[in-house]
Amino acid sequence: MKILIIHGPNLNMLGLREKSIYGENTLEDLNRKIQLYADTLSIEVDFFQSNSESDIIEKIHASENIYYGLIINPAAYTHYSIAIRDALSSISLPKLEVHLSNIHAREDFRKKSFTAAVCDGQISGLGLNSYILALHYFHLLKK
Ligand code: DQA
Repeated sequence: MKILIIHGPNLNMLGLREKSIYGENTLEDLNRKIQLYADTLSIEVDFFQSNSESDIIEKIHASENIYYGLIINPAAYTHYSIAIRDALSSISLPKLEVHLSNIHAREDFRKKSFTAAVCDGQISGLGLNSYILALHYFHLLKK
């Protein structure tokens, strides 16, 4: 089983940006920990990070025939990108939206997700474990 993990804008700045919210892990640390966990579940993972809405949309379109499912942290695009929402709803793969921080406990503008409604679900606020639980979801789906 192969899963695509998409990290949206500014997640390349993890470890430097707002550490009190996002923690000390760099994106490389995060990906390494996800990878180690995926190995224990015999799940293959590919990682993609982009700050560009258009690149994320192209990647979503291209994922349909390659991956079993998709885990996406759309980052700030969560809160306003109808284009990413439409890209997600145009593919039939199972998909989960994840967030490191609890978007429902932060500023009001973060409480609205344009993308969650077209995903199977949303996992928010568990840091690295948001991604780990998302991997478990696919593991359970496959059983
Ligand atoms: C985030 C939450 C978003 O509101 C924010 O814009 C991000 C990261 C998270 O993982 O907690 O960049 O998606």
